[in-house]
Amino acid sequence: MRTFITKTVVISAAALLALTACGSERDGDTGDSAAPEKGFAKDALIGVALPAKTSENWVLAGGLFESGLKEAGFQGDVQYAGASTTVADQQSQIAAMVTKGAKVIVIGATDAAQLSTQVTQAKQSGATVIAYDRLITNTPDLDYYVAFDNFKVGELQGQALLDGMKAKKPNGPYTVELFSGSPDDNNSKVFFDGAMSVLQPAIDSGDVVVGSKQTDIKQTATQGWKAENAQSRMDSLLTSAYSGDKAPDGVLSPNDSLARAIITSVKGAGKPVPVVTGQDSEVESVKSIMNGEQYSTINKDTRKLVAQTITMVKSLQAGDTPEINDDKSYDNGEKVVPAYLLPPVIVTKENAVEAYADDPKLGPLTK
Ligand code: GAL
Repeated sequence: MRTFITKTVVISAAALLALTACGSERDGDTGDSAAPEKGFAKDALIGVALPAKTSENWVLAGGLFESGLKEAGFQGDVQYAGASTTVADQQSQIAAMVTKGAKVIVIGATDAAQLSTQVTQAKQSGATVIAYDRLITNTPDLDYYVAFDNFKVGELQGQALLDGMKAKKPNGPYTVELFSGSPDDNNSKVFFDGAMSVLQPAIDSGDVVVGSKQTDIKQTATQGWKAENAQSRMDSLLTSAYSGDKAPDGVLSPNDSLARAIITSVKGAGKPVPVVTGQDSEVESVKSIMNGEQYSTINKDTRKLVAQTITMVKSLQAGDTPEINDDKSYDNGEKVVPAYLLPPVIVTKENAVEAYADDPKLGPLTK
């Protein structure tokens, strides 16, 4: 018995169960040969498939994955989808990562619904698949999701829009226009739903009026997250719903590049700049906020999101289950995907100096 107790210190829990079941005559067998193989080589290939460089956060992510994976001892294979052939590009990049034997494939999806074949191939090859920033839908084979809390992003944007308008004009009703992101990005709906959870009660009470009456996400969408699409939609809204002296008090914009396009459109029409929200802390938008033009952005520090993803990869390498902090929010149509969500931070001129104090891309700022 004494020998048995000493041995349990070095044998696995699975082997211990086997020993208990089989009796003491198997004391010498640690059961290791039957244990499933766990983890993978410390210098394994890790694939990272990113979408087109539609905003600064994606440009940053690629470089951070290259350096972070290298520093952790892995071989990184970081690929971007091209600007015009994004879906096909990403599908073939992921297939190539599978062929090359990647142990983990991290995907920032170009189109949430068009990657299930590749995700299944990856899974069948033994790789773990992590959706990065954008969820991948319609597949039971996606393992993890790591992102900023997208619904919260939308809530913060909706609240910023209300706060900004109130600061300029204490009493409503306020006239607004609504924009959302690309329909193929799962985040777009989540951002919009988050924002509408705050704005809808004000719309229902009549305190906020959508000038064009376009409140359906199909009407508010911005294909490909392209600034020119947002600018031309804003041009038409101004022509159709804001004749003469009429002007919107606020515009819900889902990110910074669209916010700047909306501001360009309004200025082009000779109207005063409304309260415009954003997201991504893009350099030009932060400048605009400091100059009192764009009202808000969201700080989703890409360095933290990439670091969190690499932490997951390291856990998988060691054969551990990666830490998650959400097991209910992201149903991709086939499963609820275990997620690690980071908190987004709203930034206006009020807190920009503190928010970006340790961000070399943006700081130091002065008010
Ligand atoms: C989203 C992402 C946003 C923004 C947008 C456009 O999926 O969460 O931060 O970058 O894509 O690129």
